[in-house]
Amino acid sequence: MAANSSAYENPAAVIILAAGQGTRMKSVKPKVLHEVLGMPLLGHVLLSSSQLDSKSTVVVVGHGKAEVTQYLAQSYPKVKTVTQEQQLGTGHAVKVALETLGDLKTGLVLILAGDTPLLTNTDLTQLLKAANGVGGAVLTAHLPDPTGYGRIIRGTDNKVDSIVEQRDASDTQRAITEVNSGVYVFSAELLRMALSKIDAANDQGEQYLTDVVGILRSAGHEITAVLTSAENILGVNDRRQLAQAGGVLRQRIADEWMLAGVTMVDPTSVWIDRTVSLEADVTLLQNVQLTGTTSIKAGSVIGPDCTLVNTIVDNDAVVIRSTTKDCQIGNSASVGPFTYLRPGTKLGPKAKAGGFVEMKNAVLGESAKVPHLSYVGDAEIGEGSNIGAATVFVNYDGVEKHRTIVGKHVRVGSDSMLVAPITIGDGAYTAAGSVITEDVPAGAMAVGRARQRNILDWVLRRRPGSDSAKAAVADSSSAPSSKKK
Ligand code: UD1
Ligand code: CA
Repeated sequence: MAANSSAYENPAAVIILAAGQGTRMKSVKPKVLHEVLGMPLLGHVLLSSSQLDSKSTVVVVGHGKAEVTQYLAQSYPKVKTVTQEQQLGTGHAVKVALETLGDLKTGLVLILAGDTPLLTNTDLTQLLKAANGVGGAVLTAHLPDPTGYGRIIRGTDNKVDSIVEQRDASDTQRAITEVNSGVYVFSAELLRMALSKIDAANDQGEQYLTDVVGILRSAGHEITAVLTSAENILGVNDRRQLAQAGGVLRQRIADEWMLAGVTMVDPTSVWIDRTVSLEADVTLLQNVQLTGTTSIKAGSVIGPDCTLVNTIVDNDAVVIRSTTKDCQIGNSASVGPFTYLRPGTKLGPKAKAGGFVEMKNAVLGESAKVPHLSYVGDAEIGEGSNIGAATVFVNYDGVEKHRTIVGKHVRVGSDSMLVAPITIGDGAYTAAGSVITEDVPAGAMAVGRARQRNILDWVLRRRPGSDSAKAAVADSSSAPSSKKK
């Protein structure tokens, strides 16, 4: 129980309404599963409300029920779902939810819609504080264009009297710019009482949750309005609003990280999922996307033009114009430009995946380097080894994938094919242009290519009079058989 004005009571239950169709999205996917910043709209709502530590959370599902339920089971297994078979209105949806919360008689109930991803934790705690000791509280905002929203009708005492839907409102009521966000807190007991009295006597013939406000007021219970910004209450109904919500969230997350010590050269081009973690003194250059479980430690510089998915980056690493997924990048390692690190890649401290390099399931030891134009698949490369430009780890025989083990301080010559399965021993060398098909012992030089032969005067005989032939004759240092080489 709240002992002072800054305290609030955690809700006994949270009810999230998500049974509607979302027609205006024009999608086969249920609206609440459309994503912004790598998380469904419903996930954002749950992330904000889960910070309140409610005893139970119930999501009302209907349209797209199977998909929504599956998402919740995976991402929020503690959340209950209840099916509203027919969408008879927001009031009916809450009734259905309360049926599964049979033993809920006291405490506060927080009601939210599944399509409002921009609500802040402060909005919700302010609402809980305001509901303390009165009948309930509703989150409101002033909108320059309130069309479509329910209007907040205040009495002469400036207290909330009722909420009137756009379609049921008089012209005077429609001129009101303070609107209902669709987020409320009610005492459980009063909510049950008021819901038993609602009917469907309105333009839509639906059971309106908003009528609860007027019913409680008439019964002498005060309903407090808590004003927030128009931005925070944005409900996503179409794809323009989906993009708008994404933009706001992107900016908020960027602001939070900058205040936490992350440098961003152009925060408007940096997209960071809510699930990402960063340390102070990380630098993000232009056009960077960090998604999933990506985490980056101090001193690392990412960008420009990078996408890091579920990637763990240690201190002082540099990643330039590259895409990485399910990878680990070690302390002071460097990646890029134009490089693609695929799942299972692990770069040790000071390791390098240089320009135009692709790696998959590759583990590089400390200071191991693949500087240029190479493919490294299913391999281990020991510490201090260097892989020459344009080397391919030939891991696929058309049926199965095979591993390559390269020891420590190995030098693989440029343009080599390492045909797996194969092991190259510590300190070994391979000659440039080799196709290595057999294991190389430690310290050996492996040469896997045809010996060169020069056919003298071939150009003079076969291309007489050509520019090449003239150049050859003019070159006093070589070729023509008349001169000795
Ligand atoms: C509702 C409010 C309106 C408010 C607006 C804020 C009512 C009657 N009106 O209007 O005052 O300004 O939200 O965005 O409540 N839903 C169900 N089952 C149903 C009907 C709806 O689960 O039978 C869910 C929808 O999926 C949605 C939410 O409830 O998540 C709101 O329903 P919606 O039809 O979008 O209400 P609005 O017309 O936007
Ligand atoms: Ca809506």
